[in-house]
Amino acid sequence: MVKIGIIGGTGVYDPEMLDGISEEQVNTDYGNIKVMVGEYKGVRAAFLPRHGADHAVPPHKVNYRGNIMALKKLGVERVVATGAVGSLNLEMIPGEVVLVDQFIDFTKNRIQTFYDTPGNGVVHIDMTEPYCNDLRKLVAAAAEAVAVPVKGKGTYICTEGPRFETPAEIKMYSALGGEVVGMTSVPEVVLAREAEMCYCTLAMVTNFAAGISPNLLTHAEVLEAMEKNHANLKKLIMKTIETMPGERNCRCGQALGELGSLGQGK
Ligand code: HPA
Repeated sequence: MVKIGIIGGTGVYDPEMLDGISEEQVNTDYGNIKVMVGEYKGVRAAFLPRHGADHAVPPHKVNYRGNIMALKKLGVERVVATGAVGSLNLEMIPGEVVLVDQFIDFTKNRIQTFYDTPGNGVVHIDMTEPYCNDLRKLVAAAAEAVAVPVKGKGTYICTEGPRFETPAEIKMYSALGGEVVGMTSVPEVVLAREAEMCYCTLAMVTNFAAGISPNLLTHAEVLEAMEKNHANLKKLIMKTIETMPGERNCRCGQALGELGSLGQGK
């Protein structure tokens, strides 16, 4: 069984932290998903680049359900995802990883559930703690061990994209309590919870958000910042895999309660 999944966001396209990589095609109700499987220090892990190997898929077109279902089918219990974000909080600076603990959803056109077909039931999943606290704590400890600058919590604003925000939007998001802004954590985090997997986002700050940054924003700037900090993300993910306990002690594995587990006979 592959119990750990890594979803690579912008700038993280290669499973280079894993050895003995093989490519698997996982067949799901949402399409065939290509996943790389390998291992690090004897632990098997799956790697999936969210935007495709060549960043061909924009945030609003990512097959979020296919990706999460493919990992679920491989047996993945815990997902560590990366994502580039702009910062609204002057204390969250480029190069820092924010282990976000809350999100505010401003996406517009994304399916956020596996339960939308007749006969499959209706699920209203709890989002009190959307990102697994145990996993966040584990990553925070790993960050300390490998000296990667990290903020232990933060509120993620998820926009529909693919455009960047206006300064007026950023002012509004900031007034609402948003601290970083990105385009992909929702619905990934929601679907992971429906799939009863632990999930956390390593939000890498690549820039200050529109109107806070003195410059106009470009994707090239985001990519450049990711390239600069890629080694830190890799180190952090490897340490996280290395220190991950075998069994889970959180509630993510029973998120559906009496409904039973997705993909396992429901
Ligand atoms: N806004 C939205 N998404 C982002 C940003 C941003 O400023 N930077 C990196 N991803």
